[in-house]
Amino acid sequence: MTVYVPRDAAALAVGADAVALAITTEAARRGLAVRIVRNGSRGLLWLETLVEIATPAGRVAYGPVEADDVSSLFDAGWLTGAAHALCQGLTDEIPYLKRQERLTFARVGIIDPRSLQDYEAHGGLAGLRRAATMDPALIVEEIVQSGLRGRGGAAFPTGIKWKTVAAAPATQKYIVCNADEGDSGTFADRLLMEGDPFVLIEGMAIAGLAVGATVGYIYVRSEYPHSIAALDEAIATARTAGWLGGDVCGSGRAFDLEVRVGAGAYICGEETSLLESLEGKRGVVRAKPPLPAVTGLFGKPTVINNAISLASVPIILARGAQHYRDYGVGRSTGTLPFQLAGNLRHGGLVEKAFGLTLRELLYDFGGGSASGRPLRAVQVGGPLGAYLPESQWDIPLDYEAYAAASAMIGHGGLVAFDDSVDMLRMARYAMEFCAVESCGKCTPCRIGSTRGVETLDRIAAGGKDHGKQVVLLRDLCDTMLGGSLCALGGMAPYPVLSALKHFPQDFGLGQTTSETQAAH
Ligand SMILES: Cc1cc2nc3c(=O)[nH]c(=O)nc-3n(C[C@H](O)[C@H](O)[C@H](O)COP(=O)(O)O)c2cc1C
Ligand code: SF4
Repeated sequence: MTVYVPRDAAALAVGADAVALAITTEAARRGLAVRIVRNGSRGLLWLETLVEIATPAGRVAYGPVEADDVSSLFDAGWLTGAAHALCQGLTDEIPYLKRQERLTFARVGIIDPRSLQDYEAHGGLAGLRRAATMDPALIVEEIVQSGLRGRGGAAFPTGIKWKTVAAAPATQKYIVCNADEGDSGTFADRLLMEGDPFVLIEGMAIAGLAVGATVGYIYVRSEYPHSIAALDEAIATARTAGWLGGDVCGSGRAFDLEVRVGAGAYICGEETSLLESLEGKRGVVRAKPPLPAVTGLFGKPTVINNAISLASVPIILARGAQHYRDYGVGRSTGTLPFQLAGNLRHGGLVEKAFGLTLRELLYDFGGGSASGRPLRAVQVGGPLGAYLPESQWDIPLDYEAYAAASAMIGHGGLVAFDDSVDMLRMARYAMEFCAVESCGKCTPCRIGSTRGVETLDRIAAGGKDHGKQVVLLRDLCDTMLGGSLCALGGMAPYPVLSALKHFPQDFGLGQTTSETQAAH
């Protein structure tokens, strides 16, 4: 009898190890033979620890299971998929999962992330095997044709980036995976690295073959020890199996990689800062040009891509560019793993094709607020993303439509707030975050963010020059938007200005015409 208990950090945080131990102990006590597989998380985080039982009808899910529930689950006959208060029915039929379109996360939660056999049995390695027989230029062309755009935030076309690196003359090139995942409300990189580490390795190996790079690094934030352990183990397995090393999958070409651990700075997720950090220096942003694609790690041409971008590559090579393009809308092709966080009943990961709306994510998947109060604002795209009021929840989630609304999808994380939120405090938080995380290289961000916090404090205090302070805040935001070297200072005004525009009453505005104008 096979029982699945996730090993993902989100499950471990709520006692998955204790649940696994309780199942082993209870089965032994009852003389029952049980094989426990530690899978990744299905991404239904409110149901963790989500235990699944393999039955002839398919896997049956029970959750949220605590160690104390285990005895009653055995009593109920859960090993045959029997009814129990915690029974969620067949896992594949749970609407939250059934309505998804999982391409990049196709195997996450299903396979044993440590088993290469399981990986291959579920379609793994098909992309790399095909790439190993292809002309490198054709691999790049396949990625161009797929329309894949960077999932780390800026949505730059991945194929174009690869083309630049492929064309750059150099004896040494690098593939760098950005797994710093610093945005608030995001956890897709982590869920993937812990639930299916081989797919990221496969994606990086394909990138190496495509552009002629022989060495790769995965830069993972230190807060992800389980991801680091999963990747280290998977890399060693892949090496032993011969799809990393001197002759990748019989291609005659070399590629190998290592994990590097970050040290907790948000700015080290910015690509040039990350490269500095990888080189052993302090994480300070580099001026562009030159682009990392031309002068990157140790001055060599470097592909730097987000973990989800790279993990989306194997399925594109395995099934072809057109298959991937068939998902999505306009220039936003494929799927995105949206991450539902904040005040929602059903937080978790939802991989869907671009084009659905925030309202569908918030209510059809998220189940509305966890507090039971009306939702009021949603921050999309991390701490530099705009706050969207309800009037904007029907905009289709595609890169262009969001840009047109002065918002961004970024890494696909969303944080929901109910009507008890104070948007002035949230605006202040954005400025404070920028002040704390600024690398200090340029004045608008380094000084501007601190002045922004002070100005917001004066606005909160009220007083007779209240309107003037709002005008000052807007001026400051303009300077940061136009004068910052990177997107930390350049986008920190987004949450501030969106809060001011859509929630002026929280700033004590809206009573007089001049105050309303100051808000816009
Ligand atoms: C302040 C800041 C933080 C960032 N943090 C991350 C991050 O944690 N992970 C990530 O993939 N990209 C992050 N980025 C975006 C990267 O600079 C870069 O665009 C990305 O690694 C490119 O990969 P992609 O094209 O696959 O998205 C950040 C950018 C900025 C300005
Ligand atoms: S905007 Fe901020 S984080 Fe970016 S380079 Fe300037 S000081 Fe550094």
